[in-house]
Amino acid sequence: MTATFPGRPGVKYPVSMRILHWLRAVLILGLIACGWYMTGRAEDDPTAGILYPNHKQFGVLAWLLALVQLTLRWRYSARLPHAPEALKRWEKWLSHGCHRLLIALTLITPMLGYAMSSSITDGDGVPFFFLSHVPEILPKSDDAFAVFQALHGYSAYLLLAVIALHMAGTLKHRLQDKGGETDVLPRML
Ligand code: HEM
Ligand code: HEM
Repeated sequence: MTATFPGRPGVKYPVSMRILHWLRAVLILGLIACGWYMTGRAEDDPTAGILYPNHKQFGVLAWLLALVQLTLRWRYSARLPHAPEALKRWEKWLSHGCHRLLIALTLITPMLGYAMSSSITDGDGVPFFFLSHVPEILPKSDDAFAVFQALHGYSAYLLLAVIALHMAGTLKHRLQDKGGETDVLPRML
């Protein structure tokens, strides 16, 4: 059995969590860029027929991968690296807060997207790769659609703000303490 030293430099996240972390980072940043771009086009823009269904299906995939990541976190909870001892109290608090918000928002944002697409009265439905339509379980209501549409946008841009903070924290410690205890980037590489 290999010994683990939570919190010490050299202890990495399990390989499955590292791979999934970077896959999700690319996927989620791509979804935000795609969502922002497609909503800025005219309704009859020729790209709409490609971007909307792909945004929806990759959004559902992002939700499923968030569930897988949560399962892995629970499975490996005893061997995850702890916050470095050298971090100040407020830095530990901020880092944990960002992680919790990232986990929550990566689950909530796609659910609001699904709720929006599933409640609209004359929508195109939600495709998912081999499935032409994910079942739409919500009652049809354009009022509910408008609420979910607004909430989906707020949730996605809040997620972007938290990602920016999360990246800034990682880069700050990389630049200030490269190779030191608070340089956590290698734990995720
Ligand atoms: C992590 C997953 C997701 C992210 C980060 C994301 C992000 C975004 C963003 C940033 C926008 C633009 C909002 C605006 O500027 O008003 C958007 C729009 C949209 N999203 Fe998502 N989305 C995700 C998942 C989904 C899912 C799963 C669906 C549907 C099944 C969906 C359906 C839509 C639709 C239909 C729009 C256009 C709304 C409009 O016309 O105003 N999204 N999304
Ligand atoms: C959509 C984008 C991202 C999401 C949702 C995300 C989410 C998370 C979460 C939840 C954790 C805690 C570990 C876990 O439970 O999985 C984490 C750790 C980490 N992330 Fe991200 N991340 C994103 C993008 C990035 C980017 C772009 C960077 C690079 C600057 C980065 C660097 C790290 C590092 C270094 C850790 C380890 C932190 C530590 O050990 O204390 N992440 N990320």
